[in-house]
Amino acid sequence: MIRICPSILSADFANLAAAVDLVTPQTDWLHVDVMDGHFVPNITIGAPVVKSLRAHTKLPLDCHLMITDPEKYLPDFARAGADSCSVHVELGPQYTRERIAQARDLGMAVGIVANPDTDFEQYASLLGEVDVVLLMTVFPGFGGQKFIPEVLNKMRQTRAELDFLGSGAVLQVDGGIDLTTAGAAVEAGARAFVAGNAIFGQSDPLAAAKALRNCIESALNSGGAYA
Ligand code: DX5
Ligand code: ZN
Repeated sequence: MIRICPSILSADFANLAAAVDLVTPQTDWLHVDVMDGHFVPNITIGAPVVKSLRAHTKLPLDCHLMITDPEKYLPDFARAGADSCSVHVELGPQYTRERIAQARDLGMAVGIVANPDTDFEQYASLLGEVDVVLLMTVFPGFGGQKFIPEVLNKMRQTRAELDFLGSGAVLQVDGGIDLTTAGAAVEAGARAFVAGNAIFGQSDPLAAAKALRNCIESALNSGGAYA
Protein backbone atom coordinates (compact mmCIF):
# COMPACT_ATOMS: atom_id res chain seq x y z
CA MET A 1 0.00 0.00 0.00
CA ILE A 2 1.30 3.43 -0.90
CA ARG A 3 0.25 6.82 0.40
CA ILE A 4 0.14 10.07 -1.54
CA CYS A 5 0.57 13.02 0.80
CA PRO A 6 0.01 16.38 -0.90
CA SER A 7 1.77 19.17 0.99
CA ILE A 8 -0.43 22.22 1.40
CA LEU A 9 2.74 24.34 1.58
CA SER A 10 2.48 24.72 -2.20
CA ALA A 11 -1.28 25.42 -2.17
CA ASP A 12 -2.91 28.85 -2.23
CA PHE A 13 -3.47 29.59 1.47
CA ALA A 14 -6.23 32.04 0.55
CA ASN A 15 -8.13 29.16 -1.05
CA LEU A 16 -7.03 26.26 1.08
CA ALA A 17 -10.41 24.54 1.39
CA ALA A 18 -10.84 24.50 -2.39
CA ALA A 19 -7.29 23.23 -2.89
CA VAL A 20 -7.88 20.36 -0.45
CA ASP A 21 -11.22 19.44 -2.03
CA LEU A 22 -9.63 19.36 -5.46
CA VAL A 23 -7.01 16.73 -4.56
CA THR A 24 -9.06 14.74 -2.03
CA PRO A 25 -9.86 11.80 -4.39
CA GLN A 26 -6.11 11.17 -4.81
CA THR A 27 -5.02 12.01 -1.25
CA ASP A 28 -4.22 9.47 1.46
CA TRP A 29 -2.74 11.86 4.03
CA LEU A 30 -2.84 15.66 3.88
CA HIS A 31 0.66 16.88 4.76
CA VAL A 32 0.79 20.04 6.89
CA ASP A 33 4.18 21.76 7.13
CA VAL A 34 4.56 23.66 10.39
CA MET A 35 7.59 25.99 10.53
CA ASP A 36 8.53 28.31 13.38
CA GLY A 37 11.32 30.49 11.95
CA HIS A 38 13.78 28.93 14.44
CA PHE A 39 14.19 25.27 13.57
CA VAL A 40 13.97 26.31 9.92
CA PRO A 41 14.42 29.76 8.39
CA ASN A 42 10.76 30.18 7.49
CA ILE A 43 7.39 30.61 9.18
CA THR A 44 4.22 28.93 7.94
CA ILE A 45 1.16 27.80 9.86
CA GLY A 46 0.15 26.20 13.15
CA ALA A 47 -2.63 24.51 15.07
CA PRO A 48 -5.37 27.06 14.21
CA VAL A 49 -5.10 26.09 10.53
CA VAL A 50 -5.20 22.40 11.48
CA LYS A 51 -8.38 23.11 13.44
CA SER A 52 -9.98 24.76 10.40
CA LEU A 53 -8.88 21.92 8.12
CA ARG A 54 -10.25 19.38 10.62
CA ALA A 55 -13.67 21.03 10.42
CA HIS A 56 -13.51 20.90 6.63
CA THR A 57 -12.10 17.47 5.70
CA LYS A 58 -12.08 13.87 6.84
CA LEU A 59 -8.61 13.29 5.36
CA PRO A 60 -5.92 12.25 7.86
CA LEU A 61 -3.94 15.36 8.83
CA ASP A 62 -0.23 14.49 8.85
CA CYS A 63 1.61 17.31 10.63
CA HIS A 64 5.34 17.78 10.05
CA LEU A 65 6.61 19.88 12.94
CA MET A 66 9.69 21.86 11.93
CA ILE A 67 9.81 23.61 15.29
CA THR A 68 12.32 23.77 18.15
CA ASP A 69 9.92 23.12 21.03
CA PRO A 70 7.26 20.61 20.04
CA GLU A 71 6.58 19.77 23.71
CA LYS A 72 4.82 23.14 24.02
CA TYR A 73 2.65 22.70 20.94
CA LEU A 74 1.79 18.98 20.68
CA PRO A 75 -1.27 19.44 22.94
CA ASP A 76 -2.54 22.22 20.65
CA PHE A 77 -2.18 19.98 17.59
CA ALA A 78 -4.00 17.13 19.33
CA ARG A 79 -6.85 19.45 20.36
CA ALA A 80 -6.98 20.86 16.82
CA GLY A 81 -7.58 17.37 15.44
CA ALA A 82 -4.20 16.33 14.02
CA ASP A 83 -4.07 12.59 13.29
CA SER A 84 -0.31 12.38 13.46
CA CYS A 85 2.62 14.60 14.33
CA SER A 86 6.21 14.02 13.27
CA VAL A 87 9.10 15.53 15.24
CA HIS A 88 12.68 16.06 14.12
CA VAL A 89 15.32 13.78 15.66
CA GLU A 90 17.89 16.61 15.46
CA LEU A 91 16.30 17.88 18.69
CA GLY A 92 18.05 14.98 20.46
CA PRO A 93 17.31 11.27 20.99
CA GLN A 94 16.06 11.53 24.58
CA TYR A 95 13.98 14.62 23.81
CA THR A 96 12.50 12.86 20.76
CA ARG A 97 11.73 9.74 22.80
CA GLU A 98 9.82 11.90 25.27
CA ARG A 99 7.87 13.59 22.47
CA ILE A 100 6.91 10.17 21.05
CA ALA A 101 5.44 9.28 24.45
CA GLN A 102 3.77 12.69 24.74
CA ALA A 103 2.13 12.45 21.30
CA ARG A 104 0.88 8.94 22.11
CA ASP A 105 -0.56 10.10 25.44
CA LEU A 106 -2.39 12.79 23.50
CA GLY A 107 -3.90 10.09 21.26
CA MET A 108 -2.04 10.86 18.06
CA ALA A 109 0.03 8.67 15.77
CA VAL A 110 3.66 9.72 15.85
CA GLY A 111 6.55 10.00 13.46
CA ILE A 112 10.22 10.88 13.56
CA VAL A 113 11.90 13.01 10.88
CA ALA A 114 15.56 13.06 9.85
CA ASN A 115 17.25 15.76 7.78
CA PRO A 116 19.36 14.77 4.75
CA ASP A 117 22.61 15.07 6.74
CA THR A 118 21.38 13.28 9.85
CA ASP A 119 22.94 9.83 10.22
CA PHE A 120 20.93 6.63 10.54
CA GLU A 121 22.60 6.01 13.92
CA GLN A 122 20.97 9.15 15.31
CA TYR A 123 17.48 7.67 15.07
CA ALA A 124 18.04 3.89 14.78
CA SER A 125 17.11 3.24 18.43
CA LEU A 126 13.75 5.00 17.94
CA LEU A 127 12.58 2.99 14.93
CA GLY A 128 10.67 0.42 16.96
CA GLU A 129 8.61 3.10 18.70
CA VAL A 130 6.98 5.03 15.87
CA ASP A 131 4.22 4.86 13.27
CA VAL A 132 6.02 6.94 10.63
CA VAL A 133 9.66 7.47 9.70
CA LEU A 134 10.02 10.56 7.53
CA LEU A 135 13.28 11.00 5.64
CA MET A 136 13.85 14.47 4.27
CA THR A 137 15.17 14.45 0.70
CA VAL A 138 15.73 18.22 0.84
CA PHE A 139 16.76 20.47 3.71
CA PRO A 140 13.49 21.53 5.32
CA GLY A 141 12.19 25.07 5.15
CA PHE A 142 10.99 25.59 1.60
CA GLY A 143 8.99 23.85 -1.09
CA GLY A 144 10.16 23.36 -4.66
CA GLN A 145 13.75 22.25 -3.93
CA LYS A 146 15.73 19.57 -5.73
CA PHE A 147 15.69 15.94 -4.49
CA ILE A 148 18.98 14.92 -2.83
CA PRO A 149 19.80 11.39 -4.12
CA GLU A 150 22.45 10.77 -1.42
CA VAL A 151 19.56 10.12 1.01
CA LEU A 152 18.69 6.90 -0.88
CA ASN A 153 21.38 4.87 0.93
CA LYS A 154 20.00 5.88 4.32
CA MET A 155 16.52 5.06 3.03
CA ARG A 156 17.57 1.51 2.16
CA GLN A 157 19.25 1.14 5.55
CA THR A 158 16.13 2.40 7.33
CA ARG A 159 13.86 0.09 5.28
CA ALA A 160 16.06 -2.88 6.12
CA GLU A 161 16.01 -2.09 9.84
CA LEU A 162 12.22 -1.60 9.90
CA ASP A 163 11.82 -4.96 8.16
CA PHE A 164 14.29 -6.59 10.56
CA LEU A 165 12.30 -5.22 13.52
CA GLY A 166 9.03 -6.43 11.94
CA SER A 167 7.83 -2.84 12.27
CA GLY A 168 4.72 -1.69 10.47
CA ALA A 169 5.97 1.91 10.52
CA VAL A 170 5.45 3.76 7.25
CA LEU A 171 8.61 5.00 5.55
CA GLN A 172 7.79 8.44 4.16
CA VAL A 173 9.86 10.77 1.97
CA ASP A 174 9.59 14.53 1.66
CA GLY A 175 11.26 16.98 -0.68
CA GLY A 176 11.63 17.16 -4.44
CA ILE A 177 9.40 14.13 -5.01
CA ASP A 178 8.04 14.11 -8.56
CA LEU A 179 7.63 11.82 -11.57
CA THR A 180 11.41 11.69 -12.07
CA THR A 181 12.46 10.98 -8.46
CA ALA A 182 9.64 8.95 -6.90
CA GLY A 183 10.72 5.69 -8.55
CA ALA A 184 14.14 5.73 -6.87
CA ALA A 185 12.48 6.34 -3.49
CA VAL A 186 10.11 3.40 -4.11
CA GLU A 187 13.07 1.14 -4.90
CA ALA A 188 14.79 2.30 -1.71
CA GLY A 189 11.74 1.26 0.30
CA ALA A 190 9.64 4.41 0.71
CA ARG A 191 5.88 3.89 0.82
CA ALA A 192 4.50 7.36 1.61
CA PHE A 193 5.28 10.29 -0.66
CA VAL A 194 4.96 13.96 0.24
CA ALA A 195 4.66 16.25 -2.75
CA GLY A 196 4.08 19.99 -2.79
CA ASN A 197 5.30 21.48 -6.01
CA ALA A 198 4.64 18.31 -8.02
CA ILE A 199 0.94 18.51 -7.06
CA PHE A 200 -0.17 22.02 -6.06
CA GLY A 201 2.44 23.66 -8.28
CA GLN A 202 0.82 22.08 -11.36
CA SER A 203 -2.03 23.50 -13.44
CA ASP A 204 -4.19 20.42 -12.70
CA PRO A 205 -3.31 19.27 -9.15
CA LEU A 206 -5.70 16.31 -9.18
CA ALA A 207 -4.29 14.95 -12.45
CA ALA A 208 -0.78 15.54 -11.10
CA ALA A 209 -1.53 13.57 -7.93
CA LYS A 210 -2.99 10.74 -10.02
CA ALA A 211 0.06 10.74 -12.31
CA LEU A 212 2.35 10.56 -9.27
CA ARG A 213 0.35 7.64 -7.86
CA ASN A 214 0.52 5.80 -11.20
CA CYS A 215 4.25 6.38 -11.43
CA ILE A 216 4.81 5.03 -7.89
CA GLU A 217 2.55 2.03 -8.46
CA SER A 218 4.32 1.09 -11.64
CA ALA A 219 7.72 1.40 -9.93
CA LEU A 220 6.40 -0.86 -7.18
CA ASN A 221 5.05 -3.40 -9.66
CA SER A 222 8.24 -3.42 -11.67
CA GLY A 223 9.87 -5.09 -8.68
CA GLY A 224 12.21 -2.75 -6.84
CA ALA A 225 14.43 -4.16 -4.11
CA TYR A 226 11.67 -3.90 -1.52
CA ALA A 227 8.57 -4.32 -3.70
C1 DX5 B 1 9.88 21.22 3.12
C2 DX5 B 1 8.58 20.59 3.51
C3 DX5 B 1 7.98 19.80 2.42
C4 DX5 B 1 7.63 20.57 1.18
C5 DX5 B 1 7.86 19.68 0.02
O1 DX5 B 1 10.45 21.81 4.23
O2 DX5 B 1 8.75 19.71 4.60
O3 DX5 B 1 6.85 19.06 2.87
O4 DX5 B 1 6.30 21.02 1.15
O5 DX5 B 1 7.74 20.43 -1.11
P1 DX5 B 1 8.20 19.91 -2.55
O6 DX5 B 1 7.43 18.67 -2.82
O7 DX5 B 1 7.81 21.05 -3.41
O8 DX5 B 1 9.69 19.66 -2.48
ZN1 ZN C 1 7.02 18.32 5.10
